[in-house]
Amino acid sequence: MLRLLLAFVLVGMAMGEGCCPPIAWEGFIGTMVGSVEDAVPHLTMSFLKYHTNITLGMIEMEGNIIIDRGQTQQIRIIIDNNKMTQYFIMNGKCARRTLARKVLNCVPENATLVLNTYLGAGPETLTVKVYRFLVEDIEVYSTVTSSGCIPVEHVLTGIHPDTKVALLEVAQVSGVTVGVKNPSVFDIPSICQSANISSDYAHFMSQWISSGLY
Ligand SMILES: *[C@@H]1O[C@H](CO)[C@@H](O)[C@H](O)[C@H]1NC(C)=O
Ligand SMILES: *[C@@H]1O[C@H](CO)[C@@H](O)[C@H](O)[C@H]1NC(C)=O
Ligand SMILES: *[C@@H]1O[C@H](CO)[C@@H](O)[C@H](O)[C@H]1NC(C)=O
Repeated sequence: MLRLLLAFVLVGMAMGEGCCPPIAWEGFIGTMVGSVEDAVPHLTMSFLKYHTNITLGMIEMEGNIIIDRGQTQQIRIIIDNNKMTQYFIMNGKCARRTLARKVLNCVPENATLVLNTYLGAGPETLTVKVYRFLVEDIEVYSTVTSSGCIPVEHVLTGIHPDTKVALLEVAQVSGVTVGVKNPSVFDIPSICQSANISSDYAHFMSQWISSGLY
């Protein structure tokens, strides 16, 4: 439905110029990921506090995750974009993996500007831009504020390039403030220093291609 609508709107739209959010920001990100792995469907929901500093190349997320309608669990994810390493901290354990590609900080230059629109109505509106672009076999629709390029929503569909897992992900961003009040959120905990590059949480790591899409 959304795809049809956007495909329709796409007609006549020029290539966008992309855009970048502020160098550092924090806020909340709520995600819902539906995936199919070995013919088994999975649903992963999370609500995370999100921090990023592009100059440092760091992203940190911390909060609640619910996998396949199970118990709510605490999770922390740290991405070091310079070292191309992602850390998952859960149940007092840390798993580490090498990223196959750097996390995007910006809407890329070759994104197509699909739609200029606004959220809300009357005087209480937020003007947004909707961009479409590809990350290998994943198609991404990103909604960002027209002023400042602050992420509002990402919708991703496709096949994860590394794991070949089919996925649909919706991520919503709210409560954004510019800057990071407590830069120590980016410190890698000592339990991660010795962590093996692990296949623990493989199911779940495989989904997080977008966990750090700016
Ligand atoms: C944009 O560039 C990226 C990386 O070079 C490429 O993978 C992608 O297919 C290109 N096109 C779109 C529409 O994103
Ligand atoms: C981002 O990191 C750079 C490099 O450490 C630092 O100079 C800058 O103050 C940081 N910005 C914010 C808003 O934390
Ligand atoms: C890392 O892997 C080695 C060998 O498989 C194992 O002996 C060690 O306990 C692991 N370390 C951690 C921190 O999990």
